Amino acid sequence: MDDPDRHKSLRRRTYRVPLNQMLGREGRQDIMLRAIIVHGGAGRVPGDELAPRQAILDQATGLALDALSQGQAPLLAVEHAVNLLEDSDLFNAGRGGAMRLEGSVSLDASCMTSELDCGAVADLRGIRHAISIARLVMEETPYVLLVGRASTELALQFGHQLEDLHTERNIRRWLTARQALEQLPYKEQLRLLRGLASSAEETGRHGTVGAVALSDDGRLACGTSTGGIASPLTHEGRVGDTPLIGAGTYCNEYGGASSTGVGEAITRATLSREVVRLIESGLHPQEAAERAIERFAAQTGSEAGVIALDRRGRHGAAYNTSMMQTAFAHD
Ligand code: GLY
Repeated sequence: MDDPDRHKSLRRRTYRVPLNQMLGREGRQDIMLRAIIVHGGAGRVPGDELAPRQAILDQATGLALDALSQGQAPLLAVEHAVNLLEDSDLFNAGRGGAMRLEGSVSLDASCMTSELDCGAVADLRGIRHAISIARLVMEETPYVLLVGRASTELALQFGHQLEDLHTERNIRRWLTARQALEQLPYKEQLRLLRGLASSAEETGRHGTVGAVALSDDGRLACGTSTGGIASPLTHEGRVGDTPLIGAGTYCNEYGGASSTGVGEAITRATLSREVVRLIESGLHPQEAAERAIERFAAQTGSEAGVIALDRRGRHGAAYNTSMMQTAFAHD
């Protein structure tokens, strides 16, 4: 399971989004007024889910661009895009959030703006739009991160409704996945999970969603939302990279980034911060994303993907899993 040569092959595999998806209307990357990039998670997706997932990602960029055109802040555009993905059970976020071993659906999310304002929730339960609660933490509290019951309470105070986020699809997956663990004592469960800890493909951690947006006044915002690890199941209380500023999400006046993949490794490498640091140093976001993923793979031997946007509206995406679905729109 833990192949010592695995890191070598990961180092060789950094994929880029095809060039024709990155070019502006004239075949070159223009400076853009408004722009939005979204991702639906890094890792293998069943063939029959590819087209419907892509349609929702495309729709999410359309919604976000409309919001930007109406003069809404980039953070609202990110929220509109991510809310749409959280509404679908095809992504591991919101309604599609994966179940933990003990049967709960527990969501993590974070958001950040180019003014360095940020907010996050971890282990949020019973509320679909985790990214919206992260925004509430940012805008309505003196905190950056709220965890567990306190995050649900905040959501209820601001008019969000409790709902059961268990879907038939996820219950079916949970019933199968828990067989591998449920008979084992706790310490054996931990040992098994540690053995699988570096691969987004094997562990099925994909499905996290994220977005980065730029408004015509040069402001940026980004956000990331997840149900955590999809398979095999993890224990109650585990928190990955998504709600951690710098790991799952990072933004400043130069650029913004949203990461997906193996949360523990992304956290060690502070992947989103690394991408923005490279943009700050003068790299195009595509170059920054590729270099950061290469470094991440070499440092951690693990798997991830990242999207990025800079203050000129230029974008990038890179991953070292077999795939990562993205969509980009600008005007
Ligand atoms: N990247 C999502 C997680 O590991 O929780």
